[in-house]
Amino acid sequence: MIIGVPKEIKIGEKRVSMTPSLCRRVTSLGAQVLMEKNAGLTAGFTDAEYKAAGATFAASAEKVWKSADMILKVKEPLEAEFGLMQQGQTLFTYLHLAAGPALAKQLCKKGILGIAYETVESSDGQFPLLKPMSQIAGRLSIQIGAYFLQSQVGGSGVLLGGIPGTMPGHVVVVGAGNSGAHAVRMAAGMGARVTVLDLDTRKLEVLDQEYRGKVVTLVSNPANVEAEVASADLVVGAVLIPAAKAPTVVTKKMVKNMRPGSVIVDIAIDQGGCVEGIQYTSHEKPTYQEFGVNHYAVPNMPALVGRTSTLGLTQATEPYVAMIVQKGVERALAEHKGLAKGVNTRGGRIVYGEVAKAVGFDQA
Ligand SMILES: NC(=O)c1ccc[n+]([C@@H]2O[C@H](COP(=O)([O-])OP(=O)(O)OC[C@H]3O[C@@H](n4cnc5c(N)ncnc54)[C@H](O)[C@@H]3O)[C@@H](O)[C@H]2O)c1
Repeated sequence: MIIGVPKEIKIGEKRVSMTPSLCRRVTSLGAQVLMEKNAGLTAGFTDAEYKAAGATFAASAEKVWKSADMILKVKEPLEAEFGLMQQGQTLFTYLHLAAGPALAKQLCKKGILGIAYETVESSDGQFPLLKPMSQIAGRLSIQIGAYFLQSQVGGSGVLLGGIPGTMPGHVVVVGAGNSGAHAVRMAAGMGARVTVLDLDTRKLEVLDQEYRGKVVTLVSNPANVEAEVASADLVVGAVLIPAAKAPTVVTKKMVKNMRPGSVIVDIAIDQGGCVEGIQYTSHEKPTYQEFGVNHYAVPNMPALVGRTSTLGLTQATEPYVAMIVQKGVERALAEHKGLAKGVNTRGGRIVYGEVAKAVGFDQA
């Protein structure tokens, strides 16, 4: 099997889907790894390191896509990559198709076996390939929010931790899953006043136990969200309904009630965002203002810390990539139910119900 690793081209993306260590593992299992030249540089891995681990190289992304049986990527293919996908090819990457109908159509047209990192499940119903990036995005959301609260970048001038004698900033985290829990950890660590809301009270119980009163946990309903958002300096959107378009939890009316210069970081933007009407931003221009509130909605936040993110992602993907190499993709899918849950497109159709529902079609 030839595993192709193209350079990521999304704005500001620094991650790569293969480390030299993963390369060594899969080549020792008999795979050939074909890397686009310098694909790992932004994450701090040189071609020399990949070469020592058994990789071969191609000068262009075209050559990688053309020769590979399976393309291993980080982010979903962008429009510039649509023409590179080969009929019937296997693609293992984040897809986020609920927010990408154009890509979903292309994958169907080309009969791509599209295995989405974000819907691969572990035996306990968790999403092991989403988890590390969510943890990173959650942790980043607080340092990003703290930065955009600064006066010089249009923020309200609130220091999240405050100082003795002043009120700390109020951080409201909507969603207490992987990203939400890590946002809570960072915000609490900084000394902010933290409120976290979720529909799932078991998630709230865990945080309540852990923080013993230092963090307020609330059931997520419109009244609670409205009241908390109104007094928030920083709102973090961290909700997920697996594979579906993110639900709108924070409405425009709630945003209008926030103090000017407050900040929203909508981590869930990769699934369309959980703030009503929020628009995508990019690492080049990460925020815009609406109702005087700074909106941050970058769908590839972990790219900010490309090295840590690459290591976190590949340590999670390694067992799956190794299994695919050892068994071949069809046998791996047949024998591993959790990996099979990752299949979003196959044979020209969208085969994941929630995705088909979100995009409104199941074939091109
Ligand atoms: N922007 C980025 O760069 C980036 C990076 C990583 C992950 N993400 C995204 O972040 C989102 C969250 O991922 P996660 O791994 O934390 O998910 P998760 O499943 O671990 O947690 C999501 C939580 O949202 C809760 N929830 C659902 N509906 C809710 C509602 N109406 N109100 C309050 N809570 C609600 C769920 O009960 C769950 O606890 C996903 O869309 C994921 O793809 C984005």
